[in-house]
Amino acid sequence: MLIADRGLLNIIRKFQPPDFPWVIEIERQVFNEHDPFFYMQFYETCSEGFIVAQINGFIVGFVVGFLTSQETGRIFSLAVHPSYQNRRLGSALLKEIIDVFREMGVSEIILEVRSGNVKARRFYERHGFCKTGIMEKYYNDGESACMMRLDI
Ligand SMILES: CC(C)(COP(=O)(O)OP(=O)(O)OC[C@H]1O[C@@H](n2cnc3c(N)ncnc32)[C@H](O)[C@@H]1OP(=O)(O)O)[C@@H](O)C(=O)NCCC(=O)NCCS
Repeated sequence: MLIADRGLLNIIRKFQPPDFPWVIEIERQVFNEHDPFFYMQFYETCSEGFIVAQINGFIVGFVVGFLTSQETGRIFSLAVHPSYQNRRLGSALLKEIIDVFREMGVSEIILEVRSGNVKARRFYERHGFCKTGIMEKYYNDGESACMMRLDI
């Protein structure tokens, strides 16, 4: 998918192994909590659900999703480099993974987000996700997770 923005060439496409260092750097800047090994494992087991946003040759965002059952897709992580946020790249990545899940025959998409991550919760709600519950002390630092779902 091509997106025109401020004269730059934005591309939403499947992850490829040379993108790995960029993905790890974005992960370090926005989460700093996932083992880089997970990402290569995702690529090896569910490459369809590993999508990146590229601007003029640079990887500036990514989303990782996989199936937890035939009907359910789970978004593991979605991130845009802080310098490139608020330019609809997150929305473009989310729309792409929703399309991928739809093509796989999924009927619902689930995810967890830190309860205190108000921006991300609002972002998902704007894209139609509803809160389905809270998992107390879900994260290593004791923060709870807000569980969200989108029916597609
Ligand atoms: C959540 C995240 C992925 C969103 O990515 P993004 O590229 O900033 O998302 P978008 O640009 O599509 O939308 C974000 C905001 O910009 C606004 N926006 C986007 N384009 C705009 C435009 N042209 N004009 C005005 N506002 C705009 C949106 O309305 C939205 O507003 P909000 O702050 O009220 O939510 C990003 O903030 C991020 O990486 N956060 C850290 C990681 C994280 O929390 N991930 C989610 C948990 S897995």
